[in-house]
Amino acid sequence: MQHFLDIHHTDPADLRTMIDEARRIKAGREGLPKVAPDAELPLQNHMVALIFDKPSTRTRVSFDVGVRQMGGQTMVLSGTDMQLGHGESIADTARVLSRYVDMIMIRTFEEQTLLELAEYATIPVINGLTNRTHPCQIMADVMTFEEHRGPIKGKKVVWCGDGNNVCASFLHAAGQFGFDMVFTGPEQLDPEREFIELARSKGVRVTIERDAHTAVQGADLVIADTWVSMHDSQTTRGRRHNLLRSYQVNDDLMARANPDALFMHCLPAHRDEEVTSAVMDGPHSVIFDEAENRLHAQKAIMRWCLQT
Ligand code: CP
Ligand code: NVA
Repeated sequence: MQHFLDIHHTDPADLRTMIDEARRIKAGREGLPKVAPDAELPLQNHMVALIFDKPSTRTRVSFDVGVRQMGGQTMVLSGTDMQLGHGESIADTARVLSRYVDMIMIRTFEEQTLLELAEYATIPVINGLTNRTHPCQIMADVMTFEEHRGPIKGKKVVWCGDGNNVCASFLHAAGQFGFDMVFTGPEQLDPEREFIELARSKGVRVTIERDAHTAVQGADLVIADTWVSMHDSQTTRGRRHNLLRSYQVNDDLMARANPDALFMHCLPAHRDEEVTSAVMDGPHSVIFDEAENRLHAQKAIMRWCLQT
């Protein structure tokens, strides 16, 4: 068994296998009703715990549906309702859950919670988002790009706005899948230096360009995310909006990217803040394919974790 904690901690060959497997799984479900099981049932007799310390729509529903379609069962838990939220240690929680269930997916605040859970669990642990990274999302995004435009290797990907957790996982993916990244946003919200250097050390180009119009020239993929993440203090909202206003993805910005550039957003989006409705609903946008592909990509991730 193996944990899926982050893209940069997963072997590139394994990541490629998971993307290809996800596409195969997706093709196999064509025309099937949503309640119908997959052709293969690798999670039969498996119980999966889905733990949420933060809100979620896509992660929660896609993991739940995915496990069921693969023949397994789920239990959705809120961290605050568990003893974990009332003083029980993460290590003890990991040891106990390992006696009841076969795999854990957790969405939490501190990365340390995820790492400690993985250290003490004897079953696979999957990162469903922390303050620092969101690897399952980017697996779905790489899959989505390749469905529409072929191999992502060598492409130019431009991140607009806050250098947050989703941006971090894109930087990890740049190194592992071999695409170039440009970050355009205010200096105060730059991605962590460590993540930029890691991607560069794997031979891909990572640049920072403060001018959004310059950044998107020649882009194959333009990405936005919320300006205020779940872990950001609401009191910083006004300041962040002021800093980020000139990084909104709108028609004018998209017109400077390659004509066949795609637009992505992990969702939930704040329409007409980080991206206009015209772009979200326009011809470049693949946002709902990304959301759908969470289901297929995570099935491949779960199979890899359990080696089924
Ligand atoms: N993109 C994403 O992870 O969405 P949720 O917060 O709805 O799970
Ligand atoms: N950056 C966002 C992503 C939500 C899926 C957050 O952490 O709130």
